[in-house]
Amino acid sequence: MKARNEQETPVAIIVAGPAGVGKTTTAQLLSARLGWPFAEGDSFHSQSNIDRMSRGEPLADRDRIPWLTSIRDWISQQAEAGQSVVVTCSALKRGYRDILRGARADVRFVQLTASQDVVGSRMTGRSGHFMPSSLLASQFTALEALQPDEVGVCIAAEEPPDVVVTRALAALDLRDP
Ligand SMILES: Nc1ncnc2c1ncn2[C@@H]1O[C@H](COP(=O)(O)OP(=O)(O)O)[C@@H](O)[C@H]1O
Ligand SMILES: [Mg+2]
Repeated sequence: MKARNEQETPVAIIVAGPAGVGKTTTAQLLSARLGWPFAEGDSFHSQSNIDRMSRGEPLADRDRIPWLTSIRDWISQQAEAGQSVVVTCSALKRGYRDILRGARADVRFVQLTASQDVVGSRMTGRSGHFMPSSLLASQFTALEALQPDEVGVCIAAEEPPDVVVTRALAALDLRDP
């Protein structure tokens, strides 16, 4: 069965939340379940942003804006070709989500939440990533929950990944094809 919106505006699911919460894991599983391409939001960062985070320095908003607009533009390009997608992006603040929502697609957020302790232990378990655990506290300080007028769902990410994905699909009224 096709997802309800497939004949209409292509959908972009943005899996959001702090580093280590499980965005990449959840988004890859969502992509496999829906058969939609997946993009890793981290791969849109400039080298200077990666260098800054690797040094343990939080990004300033002026560093984030070109990153967010390139994710937004990629979503628009895919949607113009009729393609729904799944993409990860921390999108911690409302203002960052407003940029992403500018994509010419039906943009829906899946904001993953977990306690700072759980996320901290997941970050330690994650390998080969430029973001050091020392930046975690600043991520939790910056975090703004989805607001009532934002399309999307907030999902507790403390359950196993397949449970998280099943909940997200149900809450977004999407089904496996
Ligand atoms: N729902 C989950 N339950 C348990 N461990 C998880 C879950 N989601 C992700 N993980 C693990 O947590 C770590 C960080 O996950 P990852 O998807 O890389 O997070 P992010 O992309 O948000 O930084 C990885 O080791 C991953 O296997
Ligand atoms: Mg990731």
